[in-house]
Amino acid sequence: MAYQLTPLTNHETGAEILGLDLKAPVGTELRNALNDAFARYHVLVFRDQKLTAPEFAHTGEIFGELMSHHHKDVRASGHPEVYVVRNEQIAPGKYRIQGETFHTDHSNHPIPPKATALHPVSLPTHGGDTQFVNMHNAYDDLAEAMKRRIDGLRAVHVFESRFSPRKLRPLNEESSKALPPPGVHPLVRLHPENGRKALYLNPVRIESIVGMPEDEALALVAELMAHATQKKYEYRHQWRYGDMVIWDNRSVMHQANGDYDMNEVRHLHRIMIAGEPVLAAPPLGVAA
Ligand code: OGA
Ligand code: MN
Repeated sequence: MAYQLTPLTNHETGAEILGLDLKAPVGTELRNALNDAFARYHVLVFRDQKLTAPEFAHTGEIFGELMSHHHKDVRASGHPEVYVVRNEQIAPGKYRIQGETFHTDHSNHPIPPKATALHPVSLPTHGGDTQFVNMHNAYDDLAEAMKRRIDGLRAVHVFESRFSPRKLRPLNEESSKALPPPGVHPLVRLHPENGRKALYLNPVRIESIVGMPEDEALALVAELMAHATQKKYEYRHQWRYGDMVIWDNRSVMHQANGDYDMNEVRHLHRIMIAGEPVLAAPPLGVAA
């Protein structure tokens, strides 16, 4: 099937895809081409899709197997793997915006998701963009001394770190019981498909760095976050109806923006694609 792919930045972060109907069957050749584009651009923006919850879930299978969300109680009707993202009033005048600081999804899982995808149901008139930053480029640009410093380090990712910059939606009893043990992951991971190294950070979930005093670990994560979230690594997605946006949790961080009128509803369907155990980057000086 012919389609047009247009890079959305000059640093291989984000590509727009026009001319595909994701409801149509996807053959091996197209599947491989889309997976190659995904490994290269990390965020794919398919335009002009109109997908019910089950149809949306089905499109995820182009990229792998669906993975279930921590919260078992927030589901779109019609499909058990489709989760709902929505601005939510939690107290008078107080709202919870899921994903509001930079993170990578479900990194507390021992085998975190390869990818996450969103498809809008209702959008605010203005604002509510999603920002993505490229963690390959951020890693590549680090000073040699920093690369040496973080070489081989591992972080412990829990559901909600004591140091998280925001409060997460609390888990209900069923969801708490189903929570896996914490993920212990390298700070520098190797992408299994493109072979590049990437910083793997998540201040919402990282509670410690193995073998490092707490103060030092927090300062290190803060320093790496300040570096990785610079505009030069970013693609900022302005949502349109019909978008199906899928991102690679192994190579980008992302954040939501709660900068719109909270009387408006921002409602998106969300799926995750299962990943593989996180590969540690080989030590510096050793070829991948
Ligand atoms: C998510 C997320 C960002 C957004 O769904 O994992 O972080 O802009 N969403 O809604
Ligand atoms: Mn997220």
